Amino acid sequence: MNFLRFSDLCASGQATGKRVFIRADLNVPLEAGALDGALQITEDTRIRASLPAMRMALDAGAAVMVTSHLGRPSEGLWRPEDSLAPVAARLSELLGRPVPLIADWVDGGFEVQPGQLVLLENCRLNQGEKKNSPELAAKLGRLCDIFVHDAFGTAHRAEGTTYGIAETAPLACAGPLLAAEMDAISKALANPQRPLLAIVAGSKVSTKLTILQSLSDKVDGLIVGGGIANTFMLAAGLPIGNSLAEPDLLDQARAVMAAMKARGAEVPIPTDVVVAKRFAADAEATVKAVADVAADDLILDIGPATAARLAAQLEGAGTIVWNGPVGVFEFEAFAGGTEAIARAIASSPAFSIAGGGDTLAAIAKYGIEPQVGYISTGGGAFLEVLEGRTLPAFEVLARRAAA
Ligand code: 3PG
Ligand code: MG
Repeated sequence: MNFLRFSDLCASGQATGKRVFIRADLNVPLEAGALDGALQITEDTRIRASLPAMRMALDAGAAVMVTSHLGRPSEGLWRPEDSLAPVAARLSELLGRPVPLIADWVDGGFEVQPGQLVLLENCRLNQGEKKNSPELAAKLGRLCDIFVHDAFGTAHRAEGTTYGIAETAPLACAGPLLAAEMDAISKALANPQRPLLAIVAGSKVSTKLTILQSLSDKVDGLIVGGGIANTFMLAAGLPIGNSLAEPDLLDQARAVMAAMKARGAEVPIPTDVVVAKRFAADAEATVKAVADVAADDLILDIGPATAARLAAQLEGAGTIVWNGPVGVFEFEAFAGGTEAIARAIASSPAFSIAGGGDTLAAIAKYGIEPQVGYISTGGGAFLEVLEGRTLPAFEVLARRAAA
């Protein structure tokens, strides 16, 4: 996909002295502090991932405006808990400079000089943001000379600051984070080194059916896990006892398997599993061959033989896409499968891309961040990419680059 890159504009001096508007995704989790009840950031990955665009703009001598949404506030209704104030404070620490927070900024009238950076208050407080109203888009476009889309986590939304402004700003380009996500995604899905293996796991087939269908005509192996694997086992005629599954989706599961098989690809079905009689961290874990799963068993992980077989496949892969832990890895007794998958991804020479909240938690738990090729900052956006959709951000930036 062809799009302008902010790094190129900076390198060629086109950002110097210009008003640069960066849409970042600084939507971080907040929690009321125990001592004073003030909101505190509990996890700042997205803020840190957004720094390169800001530093790039500052180094280029631009007048820098940054905005983001935080949560899903009501437009036009200001409440203190919707404020980006904690984000401004954290940014200021990380950038080592003051970061003024500007409220009511849509009509301009605030000061920002070349070499300065200001944070514009929660963009979802502006009327028309969600629906991308043309009036708002026109105002946003007037605020800047260059619009930088760097919010991959929000790239699946067509809102005022993620889409409208990309149409109205004099120049619209991708920031380094968005560009890196685009590059990693095309490396993994558009031009993958084969074999391409995808791991799609989670509790429900229904929430990931489009992903399974879309991947079924791209990948060489589709490893399923969690409740999704239970539904596939049931579809393959295996007993799953009391396990979480969706019997009304058996036909869809069979269709995915048939589509894969017709191309000489496969959905590897577990041959052994770890079961318990109840869903609890201290429940007794038993390894069983799948044929031996009893009526009152709950399948909570893949078994060691299955894990070893999948690990060997992952070691021989050219590309790996990972979304979802294969077992209840929060419970130690049922974490073996997810750990084996994580370690296999870490030691595989394949290019790997991983995304999704639970997946990131598993990656952190096993400390394999450095060995994963690319860790996506997108939740919903990453899933929509796997569904085979063109995200609005990518579409509009490509269109602007072609114009
Ligand atoms: C997220 O946290 O998933 C992104 O920031 C997008 O937020 P949204 O789902 O509220 O659009
Ligand atoms: Mg979300």
